[in-house]
Amino acid sequence: MKTPRKLHIKSYGCQMNVYDAQRMVDTLQAEGFVETDSAEDADLVILNTCHIREKASEKVYSELGRVRLAKEHAARSGREMRIAVAGCVAQAEGEEIIRRAPVVDVVVGPQSYHHLPQLLARAESGGKAVETDFPAEDKFNFLAQPKPDAIRARGISAFVTVQEGCDKFCTFCVVPYTRGSEVSRPVAKIVDDVKRLADNGVREVTLIGQNVNAYHGEGPDGRSWPLGKLLHRLAEISGIARLRYSTSHPRDVEESLIAAHRDLSALMPFVHLPVQSGSDRILAAMNRRHTVRDYLDVIDRFRGARQDIAFSSDFIVGFPSESEQDFSATLALVAQIRYAAAYSFKYSPRPGTPAAEMRETVSTADMDHRLVRLQELIDSQQSAFNEAAIGTTVDVLFERAGRNAGQIVGRTAYLQPAHVMASPDIIGEILPVRLESLERYSLLGELAAPAPSRTDRSTASSITIGA
Ligand code: 5AD
Ligand code: SF4
Repeated sequence: MKTPRKLHIKSYGCQMNVYDAQRMVDTLQAEGFVETDSAEDADLVILNTCHIREKASEKVYSELGRVRLAKEHAARSGREMRIAVAGCVAQAEGEEIIRRAPVVDVVVGPQSYHHLPQLLARAESGGKAVETDFPAEDKFNFLAQPKPDAIRARGISAFVTVQEGCDKFCTFCVVPYTRGSEVSRPVAKIVDDVKRLADNGVREVTLIGQNVNAYHGEGPDGRSWPLGKLLHRLAEISGIARLRYSTSHPRDVEESLIAAHRDLSALMPFVHLPVQSGSDRILAAMNRRHTVRDYLDVIDRFRGARQDIAFSSDFIVGFPSESEQDFSATLALVAQIRYAAAYSFKYSPRPGTPAAEMRETVSTADMDHRLVRLQELIDSQQSAFNEAAIGTTVDVLFERAGRNAGQIVGRTAYLQPAHVMASPDIIGEILPVRLESLERYSLLGELAAPAPSRTDRSTASSITIGA
């Protein structure tokens, strides 16, 4: 038997990169690779990169410097190591990566991962291989499915890509260029994927897409299904207790999604709905295609469907021409919504985007100051949200052993980590927990009822805040 070759893959950026990395591992396993945690031991190192902000892509080149040393070390001991750059930097920079870092053997864009075995073979016969096309065929028909062992090793919560790419063209964003235009996977394929996950112990599925609520995949009836209808179908799959989806655009929240939040207890009441700015003038310059009023109306529709729904968002500070007044409008919007969590970033011009042509007007010092002020407000809202949970009994889906002996960690409906002292048997169960205290971002509590036996697995029960 041939000794397996070792693969080390390091992902940066979004959840879709985490998912893509798993599919690359599944595909290369079929080629005789096994995964290793150490780049030094690997025969193949893949950097799965992110291009969303400048810092993210800079990291790739510094990491390549480190991997080069590992490759040289391997060569000295007579072992050949290949290096591949995948992801959005690969897509955006293509051959330029090999010019800047000749140590790289393969450059592969996100739509070509199913060609990895052939690209590697080309590199192994002495060449360099670069593929950044958007091939006509659907890569999902070619990428290998995860084996049962791999699914179980990855835990009880899984991502499934249902949609990829974006047609919104926000002026600051590289995604429409690196991931291409919106494509939705057919319902039947997604149902198959989720059933396979459920059969191997997965209890929570997060549907992912760059603009996931623009989903319009072909249904079994031959019609285009919206995300809400897909969620209704997935909620019927036995074993799946929790459903989530990310990331959504406010313009694409249609009625089936609101209905799904009203009808499906498995659909978690926590929605990531980026707004980016609280100023209509800046939203227009960003080509967001919605106003602050539109965003507030969408929030009201969600809250009308489920009063316990909570939101997270993304914000950019220091977009070209953002005045102090525009920034104050962002603070005012955050104050009005009361987020459970949010991410905020300094504007970073991305080559090739329309905003990169705009004159940058906000000084670095002002940008830093605005970021600090926004993050302070968001942190205070997040703390208030977490503190409000203390003293309540909520459902927690248990995921893994904690750092301290005897501790098991799970997540509430709002993705708050919750720790209890319990037997590892409860991993994969949803159980009510009385929350007692907060340590930074983690809640500590006690099981509110004795854990059921393994044969008596529950599905999601309702969330009882304030009990
Ligand atoms: N500069 C700063 N932040 C950006 N984002 C996307 N592009 C940029 C950029 N050029 C942020 C947005 C988006 C999140 C994923 O990253 O807030 O929602
Ligand atoms: Fe980028 Fe999101 Fe705008 Fe699409 S909707 S262009 S992914 S920020």
